[in-house]
Amino acid sequence: MGTFSCKIRGMNKSHIVLGITGGIAAYKAAELLRLLTKQGISVQVAMTEAACHFITPTTLQGLSGKPVYTDQWDARIPNNMAHINLSREASAIVVAPASADFIAKLAHGLADDLLSNLCLARNCLLLIAPAMNREMWQNPATQRNIAQLIADGVQVLGPESGMQACGEEGIGRMLEPEQLAEYITASFQPKLLSGQKILITAGPTYETIDAVRGITNRSSGKMGYAIARAALEMGADVTLVSGPTALSAPVGAQKIDVQSAAQMYEAVMHNVARSDIFIAVAAVADYRIALPSEHKIKKSSSNLTLELIPNPDILAQVASLPNPPFCVGFAAESENLAEYAEQKRRAKKLPLLVGNIAQQAIGSDDNELILFDDDGIHPLPRADKLTLARHLMQHIAQRHQGAL
Ligand code: C5P
Repeated sequence: MGTFSCKIRGMNKSHIVLGITGGIAAYKAAELLRLLTKQGISVQVAMTEAACHFITPTTLQGLSGKPVYTDQWDARIPNNMAHINLSREASAIVVAPASADFIAKLAHGLADDLLSNLCLARNCLLLIAPAMNREMWQNPATQRNIAQLIADGVQVLGPESGMQACGEEGIGRMLEPEQLAEYITASFQPKLLSGQKILITAGPTYETIDAVRGITNRSSGKMGYAIARAALEMGADVTLVSGPTALSAPVGAQKIDVQSAAQMYEAVMHNVARSDIFIAVAAVADYRIALPSEHKIKKSSSNLTLELIPNPDILAQVASLPNPPFCVGFAAESENLAEYAEQKRRAKKLPLLVGNIAQQAIGSDDNELILFDDDGIHPLPRADKLTLARHLMQHIAQRHQGAL
């Protein structure tokens, strides 16, 4: 289950054409290409002549492992139909950066070089990442062209505001390669969760001891945030109830920030009635301080005893509601994973429980999961958390469908 290519039901192709046009942001296309190939997407690069002034085809050939095409008369294509052949295997053409001139050509259906021919002859999705000086972007002609492209079904990614290569500041910067890679991989995901409302808890909780101290844990929130992103990619409407983390919420999620388990409980209960699926990923503190102090507790030489009282088990309470959503729990165990996880699944009456080894999971970018449900055990081998989240959401979508 190495890359997510081919393995994800509903995603038949993981090949794209990356078109590069002439602009200073062309150097960032190399990083975009690297990020896409890292995700298991095969990339065929096609460049305009102007792009070759900014970055060489050799660089992109080295990164993609494929010859780069720049010329519509390239003799390497046996039937001389590069404009047809190169796009037929692709699920998308991504033009990044897309210059003002290239956008104008696309809007008018012009085809005077290989890349514009490819775009005109495509039978797949077209995504463009505009990059240009702010005045060029704001020019009514460019805005007319962009409006036309959107009306034609082209997906326009960005641009964003910031410092420009020319020294001016304003809108026109190409989105960063990481953001573009996120959008592109998202557009590949099968929309198995369209219309589903998913409530997710993530991160640690923070239980106040006094004005400056508290009890928390080492959960980074990465797994829960990756699950939120994977669910969004698959078309779900996502509410993310998050304890304190250093992460930014995936674009499109409705995020509710909480600190304590009690606040997390309130936020979940407030949103659960409208949820189809509840995924409890948060590392909720099992106990809180019975009487938190409003002021900083002063140091003394005698022992200090803090009384801890149990927090509500959010997941168990949701699962025992009269008409519960499809509930998914997580269990991080340091030993006897299979035994403890199955016990926990039965005790909390969950259709699905996701087990992992605590020492491997906490804070790291990679993980390994084992899914426990009525059909038995389904291991998801070691991978980055987003890849695992996509596989998990596939499994949840199938199980939830089956449970309806
Ligand atoms: O019982 P344990 O804490 O190991 O169960 C873990 C699962 O229960 C996780 O899905 C976690 O998010 C959820 N949980 C919860 N509320 C608690 C404790 C755990 O929702 N107070």
